Amino acid sequence: MTAVDYKIAGATPEQQEAVDMLVKQFLLTDSRLGEIIKEFRRRMEDGLAHDGRVVRMFPSYVTRRPTGSEAGSYYAIDLGGTNLRVLKVTLDGAGGVTTEHQKFSLTEEAKTKTLFDFIAQSIETFLDDRNLRPTGQDEPISMGFTFSYPVQQTSINSGILSQWTKGLNVPGCVGRDVVRLLQDALLRLGLRVKISALVNDTVGTLLSAAYKNPAAQMGIIFGTGTNAAYYENIDNIGKWNGPRPESGEMVVNMEWGAFDSNDFAFLPFTQHDIKLDRKSINPRKQAYEKMISGMYLGEIARNVILWLADQRLMFGGCSSEVLNAMWSIDTSYLSNALEDTSEDLDEIKCIIEKTLSIAETTLVDRKIFRLIAALVGERAARLSAIGVVATLGKRPELLKKAVHIGIDGSMYEFWPNFDKMLSDTVSHFLAPEQFANVSFGLAKDGSGVGAAIIAMLASQE
Ligand code: GLC
Repeated sequence: MTAVDYKIAGATPEQQEAVDMLVKQFLLTDSRLGEIIKEFRRRMEDGLAHDGRVVRMFPSYVTRRPTGSEAGSYYAIDLGGTNLRVLKVTLDGAGGVTTEHQKFSLTEEAKTKTLFDFIAQSIETFLDDRNLRPTGQDEPISMGFTFSYPVQQTSINSGILSQWTKGLNVPGCVGRDVVRLLQDALLRLGLRVKISALVNDTVGTLLSAAYKNPAAQMGIIFGTGTNAAYYENIDNIGKWNGPRPESGEMVVNMEWGAFDSNDFAFLPFTQHDIKLDRKSINPRKQAYEKMISGMYLGEIARNVILWLADQRLMFGGCSSEVLNAMWSIDTSYLSNALEDTSEDLDEIKCIIEKTLSIAETTLVDRKIFRLIAALVGERAARLSAIGVVATLGKRPELLKKAVHIGIDGSMYEFWPNFDKMLSDTVSHFLAPEQFANVSFGLAKDGSGVGAAIIAMLASQE
């Protein structure tokens, strides 16, 4: 990726003026970020002290750390936004992991009606294909269940869905125990499987990072959605009224994607964000997530592009049926656009003219498209740093020694320079000696592996 120029060669004064305005709206100063960090911290404290607050700070019931020397094979189910994976995870006892997994794409029916039956059937297929189905005499197979949605846990293997987020919206599930729903579906199939741990994907990511690296303190997803989990001192979780864990700590699933929902008072909302929010399936919810994560960035860019086209500042004032349709710009088009280093921006030409069906583009149109991608991405990465800084700042004692942060998700893995923009921004808010102790690393597919590790830890208790 080459640096993006905010001055567009060949642009008319009107085009440049509009671009300058976007740059001003999307590029946030450190002092603006600093104010948002303070509010983020306040919301974290509020969530740790009380139930039902905007940033939920759910206790995960995970109180231990793997040592890396655990060995054996364990099972997990990982439900993301569009896919379901069933996994057999083998821990080698030296921090190494191998997995065997099968992927199932959620059908329309599963997404709107029969989700838990679909999950149970997928588990059945996985076990039958490998001749692993337990018979009447066998012990039931125990499985970890990664469920990447906000759940108020009531034990290590039960929890109430508080709302759907991202794209899923299956009726009849909010307010119910998702493990019960799955266990009932398994019973309908006569399948001897016991869900022994219910795990948010961020908690799984953290535990899989911790299996490899004892310094792991935080697990983050920057993918279709965004969220984080971290080890918190139990004394800091004021609302916890269960027994005190032996370790003195518990992983907290922050559900940070909800930061600034309802109020819309602290994040840098533009008219393009507001338009997206109004038309989303969850208006006024997941405000932070909507500025950061892969599900939404393409749509923010589409709103910006239409705003420019409507003023005749892009595509000669034309749009297309495709471009007029919500969600027609996939976030991956933007990251591909940023990687286009050709003189004529050929890849971008192809995206706009072929994929988005705009009859003709000028080089200036293509440069503006690229700039919009850069602005939306840079804002996302810098805002992502806010959550990291606020969380690390919550436990300053940890920063005196090595702290590792395990991260998974398409934005972190594939968006050009996202990792660098994230860590650079974090560095602006920590003392140099603190920042020197922090490492970030990709915890690829950590969510499923982590669920198997947690199922294993639960089975030891
Ligand atoms: C959404 C979900 C959250 C999940 C995150 C990342 O924010 O509410 O539970 O961790 O997406 O997948």
